[in-house]
Amino acid sequence: MAKLTVLGSINVDHLLQVAQFPRPGQTLEAENYQTIPGGKGANQAVAAARLGARVAMVGCIGDDPIGQTMKQGFEADGIDTSAIDSVPGEATGLAMIYVNAQGENNIGIWPGANGALGSDRVAAHRQAIEQADLLLIQLETPTESLIEAAKLAKAAGTRVVLNPAPAKALPDALLRHVDIITPNETEAEQLTGIAVANDEAAAKAAECLHQKFGIEMVIITLGKRGVWLSHLGAQRLVPGFRVSAIDTTAAGDTFNGGFVTALLEGQSVDDAIRFGQAAAALSVTRLGAQSSIPTREETLALIASQG
Ligand code: RIB
Ligand code: NA
Repeated sequence: MAKLTVLGSINVDHLLQVAQFPRPGQTLEAENYQTIPGGKGANQAVAAARLGARVAMVGCIGDDPIGQTMKQGFEADGIDTSAIDSVPGEATGLAMIYVNAQGENNIGIWPGANGALGSDRVAAHRQAIEQADLLLIQLETPTESLIEAAKLAKAAGTRVVLNPAPAKALPDALLRHVDIITPNETEAEQLTGIAVANDEAAAKAAECLHQKFGIEMVIITLGKRGVWLSHLGAQRLVPGFRVSAIDTTAAGDTFNGGFVTALLEGQSVDDAIRFGQAAAALSVTRLGAQSSIPTREETLALIASQG
């Protein structure tokens, strides 16, 4: 079975469900509060594991009880945690999340131990990257760790998938090692300077990512509309599944985890996108990050039900 390594953040999410987002100066009583395992890296690893991949995670937790709880959660999902470091004197990373009645969110993150994932730690876990068939990374750990990981992957023949979230400027030293990139509209604009307002603009942004950095496949996620796929000289919109949104938190992470899982199984790019979209659609119908990530069976059932 092909191997996936996910390198990235591990957060505990503090989620407040509110009727509407508080305005500046306003104090609002929430309808519901939960702490839920999150973090973009962790969510993507959990999604891939639940959806059928063999997964190892590279990342950092704090030396606090919640960090251990998060690690046990990974193990319950069958993820190899031997490359997760517990960082002395650091707290596990966290996110403060508001979710409103429309299922939209507002997120503030505090990196905590995620900030300790430097290139030294990545080098210490190089085997996890070199032995993988595919490396999946995002942007909630220091950029130097991502450059180091992508370099090691490239040298070992491991494919590199970058989900460039949350949006930030990135050095060429990272982007030129990337095989597949999966930005949303905001992140695509951040990287290319092109506002992805319509299909024509999406095509231009994708072309820019191919030309400037030599990235082989570009998938721009467009929320409800689906994804824009640009690969092998052809571009098109792949529509998603229609669901009513409870909470979109981790929808992108679930898409990425599902997409790479199907790619590693040797599914076509189109089928891999559809698999990722189905899993993401299910995650949107449920509250929270990892609490909302579906199983492979649920995902296949949704695909079957839609023909
Ligand atoms: O992508 C969703 C994630 O972003 C949340 O789980 C939160 O931890 C933030 O990192
Ligand atoms: Na969700």
